[in-house]
Amino acid sequence: MKTRIFFSLVTLLLLLSVGCQTVSTSVPPTETAVPPLPNPTNTIDPIPTLNTQAFAANQNLGRGVNLGNALEAPSEGAWGLYLQEQYFADIAAAGFDHVRVPIRWSAYADLEPPYTIKPRIFKRIDWVIEQAFAHNLAVVINVHHFEAIMQQPETQAERLAGIWRQIAAHYQDYPNDLYFEILNEPQDNLNSEVWNKIFPQALAAIRETNPERYVIIGPDTWNNVNRLNTLTLPADDRRLIVTFHYYSPHEFTHQDTPSSSTTWGTEADVSALQADFDAALAWSTAEQRPLYIGEFGVHATVPEPSRALWLSTVRAEAEKRGFSWAVWDFGTDFGIYTLHNRKWKDPLLKALIPES
Ligand code: GLC
Repeated sequence: MKTRIFFSLVTLLLLLSVGCQTVSTSVPPTETAVPPLPNPTNTIDPIPTLNTQAFAANQNLGRGVNLGNALEAPSEGAWGLYLQEQYFADIAAAGFDHVRVPIRWSAYADLEPPYTIKPRIFKRIDWVIEQAFAHNLAVVINVHHFEAIMQQPETQAERLAGIWRQIAAHYQDYPNDLYFEILNEPQDNLNSEVWNKIFPQALAAIRETNPERYVIIGPDTWNNVNRLNTLTLPADDRRLIVTFHYYSPHEFTHQDTPSSSTTWGTEADVSALQADFDAALAWSTAEQRPLYIGEFGVHATVPEPSRALWLSTVRAEAEKRGFSWAVWDFGTDFGIYTLHNRKWKDPLLKALIPES
């Protein structure tokens, strides 16, 4: 692509200089005969325009919530959340812009080509997307907990592409408020070297039917923010949004016993967060790729004021830098909403949506 751009740049400059000579020798330079020449740096390379669109598509995601532990559980409901219509209404009313829907597609897909996906999961996901759209929420669907590909990436790569070929064909006529995220948290044997070889196959399968859909992709090591620079993205696909997950410091966010007492909030804690996000922003600016924090959250056993402080700080630092985000999660172990009485945990909601 770079070579093509370079050649078209050279060709255009040649044409412009030939044009100028023609104009100066054969046509008297009147105001009407010689329109102002376009600035070549603004007109030759289509990438900046398309990137503006990708950044806009990322802003469209805005603030989101993960419907975690529902459709990526072994069966929906087994991990505490069975999706209901009123949740979408409550999420929209609280001021969120989108939902991220983790889905264990691999559990519904045959093991052999063409890896046929069972119609019943499509039916359920159709309903989820319909509910979200009915409440004016954008939707991210992903491939979550595809454990086999983390262990045997080379042999499962074709299956990931086969799964996406079907999902993409099924949703090809849906509006751009539906976003595809190729794979949650590449990890273990799915390291950056292998991941950079594998994800283009899934992306190509998506592009067969969805040339314009925004596709989300993140780096290895569980979508670690410090691994963004290991991603090798196709330069000619400008409809990509890059994601990372943020649970730092892990010993604070993942305390799951009430007796543990790691706190957060010193100046040094905040500086560490800012340093991580500054580095991410520098990468995003240099690569012209918008950033989406697809997950960040604190376990529900952590005292609520500490959770609220961490959530509001991460949220504010993200928004300062133009990152979109989705909190982990809606109503289970990292939840911000209690399912049984349909109530938000107010300090947490305020931390995320200050106007609420
Ligand atoms: C993750 C996962 C998610 C998990 C959460 C909390 O790394 O993507 O499935 O429940 O973070 O640990």
